[in-house]
Parts: sequence; structure tokens; C-alpha cells
Amino acid sequence: MAEAVTPGICTTGWRRGGVHAPTYNISIKPATALLVGCTTKTKSITSFSTDSLRTRGRARRPTMSLNAAAAEMETEMETLRKGIAEFYDESSGVWENIWGDHMHHGFYEPAADVSISDHRAAQIRMIEESLRFASFSPITTTEKPKNIVDVGCGIGGSSRYLARKYGAKLSRAITLSSPVQAQRAQQLADAQGLNGKVSFEVADALNQPFPEGKFDLVWSMESGEHMPDKKKFVNELVRVAAPGGRIIIVTWCHRDLSPSEESLRQEEKDLLNKICSAYYLPAWCSTADYVKLLDSLSMEDIKSADWSDHVAPFWPAVIKSALTWKGITSLLRSGWKTIRGAMVMPLMIEGYKKGVIKFAIITCRKPAS
Ligand SMILES: C[S@@+](CC[C@H](N)C(=O)[O-])C[C@H]1O[C@@H](n2cnc3c(N)ncnc32)[C@H](O)[C@@H]1O
Repeated sequence: MAEAVTPGICTTGWRRGGVHAPTYNISIKPATALLVGCTTKTKSITSFSTDSLRTRGRARRPTMSLNAAAAEMETEMETLRKGIAEFYDESSGVWENIWGDHMHHGFYEPAADVSISDHRAAQIRMIEESLRFASFSPITTTEKPKNIVDVGCGIGGSSRYLARKYGAKLSRAITLSSPVQAQRAQQLADAQGLNGKVSFEVADALNQPFPEGKFDLVWSMESGEHMPDKKKFVNELVRVAAPGGRIIIVTWCHRDLSPSEESLRQEEKDLLNKICSAYYLPAWCSTADYVKLLDSLSMEDIKSADWSDHVAPFWPAVIKSALTWKGITSLLRSGWKTIRGAMVMPLMIEGYKKGVIKFAIITCRKPAS
């Protein structure tokens, strides 16, 4: 049934020895179920490889019970969550030191000639352009979101910006990184007079600690790429959205497949694999896959755009800043995960240039009733 809804999508709903793991009840064609960019991930780096899981699942097919399969999958998920948390625990201070509190791309006019001082403004522009794209800006007072959630909040740059902009009652924000990101985000909020207005906690986006229908703005800025199960991720965003609420997903995708393609080309997968390992990205999907998922949940006003040209100056600028004295010494003090992340930055530029990586925005509205 899900074949019609999520062709080509990468999820953790892989086939395990011919059965589907119970908590991820999604059926996908083997060819299109390729966890693109993760299929040859080096186990020594993250020990999270969905491909190895599928392979192991097949090898164990005659004996593996559903419970054992589910238990093993949960162990793999825990390993991934731990890897993401440690990556951000280790690297967030370095990033903040050099780039400030927004851990996302900037939005630039295509082919703009930008200096290093423009980048913070470009990161704010990314937030504003995203709101505008989702028809949240300009906005009347009555349309202002009162309850906002920031899913995958980093050190809370967007959470605080949105809380201030809209004077929201109480914004909530979640990250996997504890203690570093959640604590630092709260510290900054308190210092900026947002105590009691924004609250940060450690929680999984795939299992959010919020009741159904709570938020009139559901915001996910560059966290979707870390999600091992895009279907569950989107389901959770939709679940916590209030009737009539908006969902904004800004994320890294792979290019859309043409109707005749079942997966990316091998050299494209090879490129994404190298990026996956360093940044803990378990499963890439396309913008079209996100649109299909939202459509399958009867969301309204679904819109998407490819903003790859608008982010082109970003990675060259990050590399330039990493090569300064401050950048090099900060990196050397950080740790191996951060250094490895820095080493694959040129591959992001290559991915964009080759058109394999797309910087996408996908938005929609939950039906009012
Ligand atoms: C690149 S940072 C983006 C931070 C922030 N949105 C910003 O724009 O500054 C990715 C964030 O996603 C979070 N994240 C990744 N997987 C997550 C998950 N399963 N649940 C909650 N947060 C997650 C990480 O902890 C990190 O805070």
C-alpha cells in the first residue's frame, strides 16, 4: 500500500527477511527501498548501517523472530541517536564560537558576491524566507502563531527568533543533544529575557513528548536529514500540528528521481555515503518523497521549492572560516567527530554542484477540521 505513497523513499521500514518490523509498517519495493547514501556506510565510523541491517536481516531470516528484529532495530536506532547527540555535543561550541547560534545554511541571492559578515544576516534571511514561503509573513496579529515547536532545535537560534518575532505564549524545542545543546539554548534564552517563553528539552523527533494538535507552527530547520524514518518523522510533525496549523520543513534532500529511475546512480550514492558517515544522516529522500508523504496524510496547501542556488555561497564560507587560525584551533580542540565533519565539507559543495544534493523547503497546512 505504501508503494503508491512513498516510491523511492528511504525509511527504516526495510524488509527484514520478508517480514516488516512491526513498529514501521511500511512496505517498499526492494529496488526503491535503497537507503540511498547509507548503503555502504562504514560500520567502524558510526556502526549504524541500514544496509548491513537489511543484509543481516536476510541472513537471519529463517530464525529471527519479529521481537528479535524489533529489538535489534531499536538498538540500531539508539546507536544513531547517540551518534547524533555526541556529534552535536562535541561540535556545537565550535560552531557557536565561529558562526553564532544558527546552525543552518544562509539564504543568498543566486550568484551574490558575499563577504563573511553577510552570513549571519543570510541565516536570518533563511528563517524569514521560509516563513514567507509558507505564507506566514507578512502576517496580521490574529494570524500570529501562539504555540510553536522547533523540532531539532540546535542551540535554539530559530526558537528564540520565532518566539521574539511572534511573542508566542510558550515555544517548545527539542534536540537530541544533551547536555550541550538543550542547556546552552536555555541559557541563551534566559539571558535574552525569554525565560518562560521558550523551553528546551531532550527528546526524539520521532516520538515527540507533545499532545496531538498542540502547535500552530511546527518548524524543522535542517533536522529532517538526520531522521532514519521519514514517514514517522512526517507523521509526528503532522500529529503535533494544530488544526489549521502550518508545518515548515527545511532540509537536505537528494534530487528527485525521473519516472524511469528507481534509485540514484551508483556514483551519486557513493558521494552521499561519504557525507552520511560524517554527519549521521541515515537515510536521504527526495523533495518529491516529502510531498507525497504530506499528501498521503491529506495535508493542504502543500508547497515545495529547491533553494540549492540560494545556499550556494554557504559551504565555501564555512570552509573559509574553518581555515582561519580561530577555525583551526577550535577544530583541533573539539574532537574527531567534528574534524571528520569538517573534512567532508567539500563533498557538500560537490553534491550541490553535481545536482545530487538539493536544499529543499516543504510546507503545508493541516486541515482546520
Ligand atoms: C544542523 S542542526 C540544526 C539546528 C537548528 N534547527 C538550527 O537551525 O540552528 C540539527 C539538529 O537536529 C537535531 N536532531 C537530529 N535528529 C533528531 C531527532 N531524532 N530528534 C530530535 N532532534 C534531532 C540535532 O540534535 C540538532 O540539534
